[in-house]
Amino acid sequence: MDARAVNATLRKRQTPSAEALAWFAQGLADGTVSDAQAGAFAMGVCLNGLDDTGRAALTIAMRDSGDVMQWALDAPVLDKHSTGGVGDCVSLILAPALAVCGVYVPMISGRGLGHTGGTLDKLEAIPGYRTGLSEDQLKDVVKRVGCAIVSASADIAPADKRLYAIRDVTGTVESLDLITASILSKKLAAGLEGLVLDVKCGSGAFMKSQEDARALAQALVDTSNAAGCPTSALITDMSQPLVPSLGNALEVVEVMRVLTGVQTGRVLDLTVELGGALLAQAGIDDGASKIAESIQSGTAAEKFGEMVYALGGPVRFVEDWMRFLPEAPVIHEVLAPSGGTVSAIDGETLGLAVVGLGGGRQVETDVVDPAVGLSDVVALGATVSKGQPLARIHAAREAMADEAEAQVLDAISFGEAPKDTPLILERIP
Ligand code: URA
Repeated sequence: MDARAVNATLRKRQTPSAEALAWFAQGLADGTVSDAQAGAFAMGVCLNGLDDTGRAALTIAMRDSGDVMQWALDAPVLDKHSTGGVGDCVSLILAPALAVCGVYVPMISGRGLGHTGGTLDKLEAIPGYRTGLSEDQLKDVVKRVGCAIVSASADIAPADKRLYAIRDVTGTVESLDLITASILSKKLAAGLEGLVLDVKCGSGAFMKSQEDARALAQALVDTSNAAGCPTSALITDMSQPLVPSLGNALEVVEVMRVLTGVQTGRVLDLTVELGGALLAQAGIDDGASKIAESIQSGTAAEKFGEMVYALGGPVRFVEDWMRFLPEAPVIHEVLAPSGGTVSAIDGETLGLAVVGLGGGRQVETDVVDPAVGLSDVVALGATVSKGQPLARIHAAREAMADEAEAQVLDAISFGEAPKDTPLILERIP
């Protein structure tokens, strides 16, 4: 095999054979393929696309470029993946709720990407929580506790690690085929027996239109099923943040409020819907009610506490979470410049405001400040009077709060009341 021949096939708008794609993925993992060849490959796929068979072959090859975990457990091994949005902290509630329902959840998660927050960054706001586990350690925690939310070890989908870094610097992230292979190669390497996808759509998501979200959801569902993992997807609304706080520790606060029964709303509804869809797919009846019950009864909170402790966090985190989470030194209210109805919220701009405050990364090496972000963000459709708070900024310094204030004001529009958008826009299949 020869990388030049694989790239020439792409240049002619043809899909390379499954064998050629498998060879290329292995070459990415072991260094046989150079950075230049990988960049040309990414651009070839980006511009000319793969057919469905090629997309599945590339996904399977990238999954198999490293270890694929094997489980021999007494209940199904399941997971959820979100394509990312602002204020999306569902994973932290759903993983322990699923574990209470008796299934196993080895949730390999990511860090913040662009304007969206990352599950690992949120969990690392909890003092001591370790996301970097070996596969043996992950297996041990999942067997003992039922769930673990961790990062991918170096042996999971190494072809994706290399290709993703190259895509990031060659303007080739935005490809349906490459996004599908990248997301699924890591998820499928966890040895899943079922997966539900939360494909976000709207101002705070990567996919702004329902048409684009549907195309991604369909590609992910078809490819994952072709790779042998029963998968379904929900396309869900991200025209406003899922919770009124954005930022790492601030989102853990929202999670704890839901898990301890203080808060209900869209994030709880979505957790129940996703959990219900996943459990139904695994043949477990009344999954949505079981998930809701685990949260109402406090057993999901207990399970979250067990997971946090097993991964190095405080033993009494659930009882005493307010004491453990970091708080920013500057809290600054953004006041409405005039009265009116909130007609639109630009979630991407809010997410970028959090990144600017230090809650996300501008470059890979940035260290995230877990305490900063936004809280009490006004809801879409709310009516506010002049001078009423639209959000609270949590910042490390006053000057940073001033910059974020301009972004928050830019992100919130006033006008006619928006149409009611359902939380679940579509289900696939
Ligand atoms: N998340 C991933 O893991 N990969 C992509 O390509 C995009 C989002």
